[in-house]
Amino acid sequence: MPSSATSDQGSGKQGSEPSLPLSTFRFRCIGCGSVTPSAAQDFRCSECGNLLEITDPSWKSTSLHAAALKSIWRDRRSSNLPLDLSGVWRFRELLPVPQSEQHVVTLREGNTPLYELPQSSRITGVPRLYAKHQGMNPTGSFKDAGMTVAATFARQAGYRWVACASTGNTSASMAAYAARGGMRSLVLVPEGKISWSKLSQALDYGALTCQLRTDFDGCLRLLQELVRRAPVYQLNSINPFRLEGQKTLALELLEQLDWHPPDHIIVPGGNLGNSSAIGKALLEMLDLGLIPRLPKLSVIQAEGANALVRTLREAGGKRLVSVQAETRATAIRIGNPASWEKAVKVLQATGGACEQVSELEIAQAKAEIGAEGIGCEPASAVTLAGLKKLLRQHFVRWEETVVLVLTGNLLKDPDFTMEFHRGDLFQGTAHKRESDSLMPFRHPPVVLDATLDAVIKTLEQAEKSDPTHFDV
Ligand code: F0G
Repeated sequence: MPSSATSDQGSGKQGSEPSLPLSTFRFRCIGCGSVTPSAAQDFRCSECGNLLEITDPSWKSTSLHAAALKSIWRDRRSSNLPLDLSGVWRFRELLPVPQSEQHVVTLREGNTPLYELPQSSRITGVPRLYAKHQGMNPTGSFKDAGMTVAATFARQAGYRWVACASTGNTSASMAAYAARGGMRSLVLVPEGKISWSKLSQALDYGALTCQLRTDFDGCLRLLQELVRRAPVYQLNSINPFRLEGQKTLALELLEQLDWHPPDHIIVPGGNLGNSSAIGKALLEMLDLGLIPRLPKLSVIQAEGANALVRTLREAGGKRLVSVQAETRATAIRIGNPASWEKAVKVLQATGGACEQVSELEIAQAKAEIGAEGIGCEPASAVTLAGLKKLLRQHFVRWEETVVLVLTGNLLKDPDFTMEFHRGDLFQGTAHKRESDSLMPFRHPPVVLDATLDAVIKTLEQAEKSDPTHFDV
């Protein structure tokens, strides 16, 4: 069953459902540029094998005036219609839309907060510093924004099974959306390399969960072969519908900033779908006159999973330099990112940077974001660690406006958080000695006798020490 922009949509037969705009999307190969109305199950170009992206001439049509779009999207925030309650489908004029509203699988995703970060502002010296917290989505990560669109098209095409390879968040999200859409889900995850919290979500949402004795890259390879052999619909970010949904992060962010573009958006990089989606949205927004200029989109990776950093430094972005990935930020433990070419294009188009940060820098930044009272998972914390580096390199200047994209919720990786605060995180690693410098950021639990005296004494001791004096 190929995914397609159907003839129904092409002929505009939408009479009974006026809330869905006409969809005339096509698949375009990012390599050879060929455009087709449908895509095969592996979502690769039948001519050259490269990845596909979705394009729709109607997005550029004169009927879409920027001011009118902004006003429609804002008005929908006070509507109780199911599609309007989703922070993704609220922006449906710039999305591929299904034939019928009945196909839409939604959990009211999107609508995530944009927080100020007063303490991190003080630490970095950047007064206009914000976090777009995608960890506040229904399953706790940014994946939900893309999953609602891709699961909708899986349901429309009549698939019984959907499948993904994952470092944890995609599988949690896919399992939830499959369950809501009445589909079965198959999850392929690297054994022992994803957090229990994410794994437990997939189990609870009813996925058939396979822990494979390989890494994420091995799981993804196997999935690509599987979709050519079995009628399962792949929901990795190779699926371009996912990236269309993830574009709405940028649309919503700009709306929250009253359409004044920030100078920088900083995002973690793993399989590189999210940076590609955000970049695509920024370019489309500029094209449509929704924003007057482009923010610089920068990607930050863990030092141990730095394929994009090396691809740009060692190969000028022309060929992928894969790595054997290793990092405690398991969400981005990826050595062979599928969307590297898309990411290179948007980095170059927006003038963004690509940097890497160490395990210690990630752990410190995560504790600092936690101390803001919002928290995030380790992979998201690379953004703050990366910002500090980009400030030292004068790529970001303190007077600029910066948005960090926090991709996952604090509760996604409790093991990391507990080990950090107990001081065990770097036990048995080469970083053990250096990690003593993180002592002021730790807040380990204290075991006491259940007496008032013991509690008061502990309170007094805590008052004497001021553990929140951080330096960059
Ligand atoms: N942050 C989190 C929390 C993630 O889960 C991921 C990717 C990323 C960042 C990187 O985003 O891959 O679009 O560059 N997680 C995927 C998964 C791979 O399977 O959950 P990316």
